[in-house]
Amino acid sequence: MAEESKMPKQSKDYTIIAEIYDYLMRKIDYKDWAKYIYDVIREYIEGELIVLELASGTGKLGTAFSIFSSKFIFTDLSNDMLKAVEDDFTKICCDMTLLPFKQKFNTVISTFDSINYLIDDKDILKCINEIEKILTDDGIFTFDVSLELNSQKYLKHLNRKGKYNDFYYIQQSNYDKMNKIHYNIFSIKKDDIEFKEEHKQRIYSIEEMIEIISQSNLQLLDVFEAFTFEDLHEKSLRAQFVLGKNNVNI
Ligand SMILES: C[S@@+](CC[C@H](N)C(=O)[O-])C[C@H]1O[C@@H](n2cnc3c(N)ncnc32)[C@H](O)[C@@H]1O
Repeated sequence: MAEESKMPKQSKDYTIIAEIYDYLMRKIDYKDWAKYIYDVIREYIEGELIVLELASGTGKLGTAFSIFSSKFIFTDLSNDMLKAVEDDFTKICCDMTLLPFKQKFNTVISTFDSINYLIDDKDILKCINEIEKILTDDGIFTFDVSLELNSQKYLKHLNRKGKYNDFYYIQQSNYDKMNKIHYNIFSIKKDDIEFKEEHKQRIYSIEEMIEIISQSNLQLLDVFEAFTFEDLHEKSLRAQFVLGKNNVNI
């Protein structure tokens, strides 16, 4: 029994990690990222933006985005992540494949690999079809996906350990190329109690994503190399998709 109590406690994704997430992401320039998302949106939408963010996490991007729109709802599957979002904002805990909204939005966004957490094609399809129901006719859904080269290039950087406040953490990252799954295993220790979270993300190819989108109720309007308006190329690390209801050819 004594041995058993020393075993790490298996936590649900994004529960314990919520305590150190902003620290782990401290080098990310969310202001710049929000401005890029805003520029993408403005290619398609004029006027007031009514925004729903899926998988907003601790809300860093949405908070930076709030200078562009005061009508912004944060959502995430993890209540622990949402707790970090300032209470002045509207935040709702929900699964992006099952959206609880009746109101319509002209802008739905998701950033930073969140869509890669949907492991199954069917979940991506479900997510897009849920968005279609709450999107205005002229609205868009824009999201990024992390590509295979990103998984391969930054593995070393993602194998790290450190201390933040009272938390000691170890992150082990590996990419299963055969099954196209990127694993991040976090061991986090606080007050002699060790927790473990195992994050699993599927790395889709562009062709796979385009095929899934073609089966959905939304149209692919554009796909860019993320942070630019350029076409993707063989060295691209992240893709920015834009979907809408209009019949626009890319
Ligand atoms: C890498 S974090 C990104 C968070 C935030 N977008 C950012 O830029 O910092 C991924 C987020 O996706 C959320 N997530 C994973 N699966 C989800 C799902 N099915 N529905 C909603 N959120 C989900 C996690 O809880 C986590 O907050």
